[in-house]
Amino acid sequence: MRAIKGSPFRPRREKRKGRTSDSFKSWQAKLLKAFVPGAESEYVAVVITGSGTAAVEAALFSSLPHGRRMLILNNGVYGERMSQIIGLHRLGVNELKYEWTARPDPEKLLLALRQHQEVHVVGMVHHETTTGLLNPVKDIAAVVDNQNRVFVLDAVSALGGETIDISKSHIYMVAGTAGKCIQGFPGVSFVLVRKGFVEKMRAYPKRSWYLHLTHYIDNEGRGTIPFTPAVQVYYAFDEALSELLEEGVANRIQRYKKAATLIRERLAKLGVRTLLPPDRQSNTITAFHLPEGVSYQQLHDRLKAKGYVIYAGQGNLESKIFRVANMGALTEAQFTGFLDAFEQACKPT
Ligand SMILES: Cc1ncc(COP(=O)(O)O)c(C=O)c1O
Repeated sequence: MRAIKGSPFRPRREKRKGRTSDSFKSWQAKLLKAFVPGAESEYVAVVITGSGTAAVEAALFSSLPHGRRMLILNNGVYGERMSQIIGLHRLGVNELKYEWTARPDPEKLLLALRQHQEVHVVGMVHHETTTGLLNPVKDIAAVVDNQNRVFVLDAVSALGGETIDISKSHIYMVAGTAGKCIQGFPGVSFVLVRKGFVEKMRAYPKRSWYLHLTHYIDNEGRGTIPFTPAVQVYYAFDEALSELLEEGVANRIQRYKKAATLIRERLAKLGVRTLLPPDRQSNTITAFHLPEGVSYQQLHDRLKAKGYVIYAGQGNLESKIFRVANMGALTEAQFTGFLDAFEQACKPT
């Protein structure tokens, strides 16, 4: 294959010389600059072809030594998924399970970790996309660090949308994806790994061939990529990361927050209630109770006809709520258009 001018992929010749391709270095550097600013030298960014679940699974499977266990804090569909992933190899102790509208309790975690000395890894979702609930990452990370355990955080729907200080909180593994708040295309995901932990991980058992993180880190160190990358999506990812850095992560978070506020205030005026109180809500997803006398399907179809898509609730919230996402390169005019369409859609026909 001929290298394209300006391509993020370098000619094979360079790989034979044993040099890491500049393209990989470029987006790794962009990821570190965006998400661990000031601590870039303390983390590595491992980029994987696969959706967000691939990154979460890679982080979980690569972080556990022989004979130790994991504990998952589960308060939604994606916490449940973490439990299911580790359940495949029976790596867990009983999860700490919460209502989908409740937040994990740091005190309970502390007690569980004292009780279960065999637990080495604690897994949690940052932003539970199920309900738009923001979990208390800083407080949970403090307990995990204080108890000398390893924190694996699923930040798939949070990175770029929520404030987080990964390095100060000593979070060892953070899984993210190119889509969602990074505004790239789905198909590429990544794990940010604390460098000091990489050496330890090398001694841990391989629980997956494709998703073993040190496999990627070692190959990249030799200037090679272990598996065929989804080249076309990597191009988009590279561009999306540049756009994120151009906008600035803090500015993007503010833009999302402003959009979420616009949506919430207008729907409040229409008497549509949010599922969660304001202090638990994220900047990018809002779960609302369905308006009186309107079914999800009616609301969805009327909005779809105007070019807008809302999401249904999941699990036992399926027929009770709907969700509005405000991630992406959307303008204020587009949000106003949606809100006008929403008001129309709620009127009796
Ligand atoms: C918090 C969270 N984790 C994991 C995932 C899974 O990501 P994917 O569908 O890209 O595999 C999602 C998807 O919405 C998510 O919101």
